[in-house]
Amino acid sequence: MPRNFSLVTVASGAVSLRSLEHGETFHPVVGPMAEARALHVAGSRIVERAGECARPFVIWDVGLGAAANAVAVIEALSEARCPAHVELHSFDCTAAPLTFALGHADELGYLAPWREAVVQLLASGRAAAGNVDWHFHRCDFREFVCAPRAGVPLPDAILYDPYSPESNRSMWTLEHFTRLRERLDPARPCTLTNYSRSTSIRVTLMLAGFHVGLGGATGEKDQTTVAATHRDLLAHPLGAEWLGRVARSTRGAPLRESRTPGPVSSEDLAALRARI
Ligand SMILES: C[S@@+](CC[C@H](N)C(=O)[O-])C[C@H]1O[C@@H](n2cnc3c(N)ncnc32)[C@H](O)[C@@H]1O
Repeated sequence: MPRNFSLVTVASGAVSLRSLEHGETFHPVVGPMAEARALHVAGSRIVERAGECARPFVIWDVGLGAAANAVAVIEALSEARCPAHVELHSFDCTAAPLTFALGHADELGYLAPWREAVVQLLASGRAAAGNVDWHFHRCDFREFVCAPRAGVPLPDAILYDPYSPESNRSMWTLEHFTRLRERLDPARPCTLTNYSRSTSIRVTLMLAGFHVGLGGATGEKDQTTVAATHRDLLAHPLGAEWLGRVARSTRGAPLRESRTPGPVSSEDLAALRARI
C-alpha cells in the first residue's frame, strides 16, 4: 500500500486523498464528487456534447489520481442514460494514488461501486464501465504530448487536474500548453477544464492558443477556468475587462519555463489583445 497519501475529511464531510509529498488535498472543501461534477462534468458539458457526437466522444483525464473525475464522468453518463460511446483515456505517471484509494474504497465512498473496474484498469490498463471504454496510460503526460502513443485518439474534452503550479510547475508552462494545443485536432472542438483561477495561468493558456473563459465555482473558489480550441464552446469568454486587470497585475506574465513571474510584457499584452 503506497504510504505517500492519507485520507482527509474535508469541510463538506466528504473524504478525499491528500498527497503528503506535495502537501495538497486532491479535492478540498467540497470533496471529490462535488468538485468533479461541477468543475469537469458540467464545465465541459460532457453529457450534452457526448450525446450529440456521432462518433465516439474522447476524454483525456490528465492526472487520474484517485479516479474521482473519471468516476464522475462515468456516473453522469450512466445517470443521464446517455447512449453515446465514450472513450476515457486517463493519464498518470503513477498508479500509487489509485492503489491507495482502492485500499480505502469504502471510506472514500465514490470508488466502492467501481472497485471491479478499477482492479481491471490497474491490472490491464483497460476496463469497461457502463458505456465508457476506460484506458489508463501510465506515463508522464508532458512526454506523451511530445511523442503521443499510437492508438490514443485526440480528445473532445480534457479534464486537467495535475498538482498545482507551485509544486508541479512543468505541467503549467507556456511551452507545455503550446505543444498540447498544437496536438489537438482543428476539426474536433475541445475543452480543457481546470481548477485554477489564476491570472497567470489564464494568460498562459491564452498565449498557448486556447480561447479562455470563466468556469463555475467550486469549494473556496468563486470561479475556475475553461479553455477551448473554439470560442463558441465557452459560456463566459474572458474579455476586455479581464485584459485590463492583466495589464495592471503585478503577476500577469505567463508561466514560462525559464522566467519568474512578474507583470505581463507589452508583446504578450498585444498577443492577448489579438485573441480577445
Ligand atoms: C490532484 S491529483 C489528481 C486527482 C484526480 N484527478 C482525481 O480525480 O482523484 C494529481 C495527479 O496528477 C498526477 N500527475 C502530476 N504530474 C503528472 C505528469 N507530469 N504526468 C502525469 N500525471 C501527473 C499525479 O501523479 C497525481 O496523481
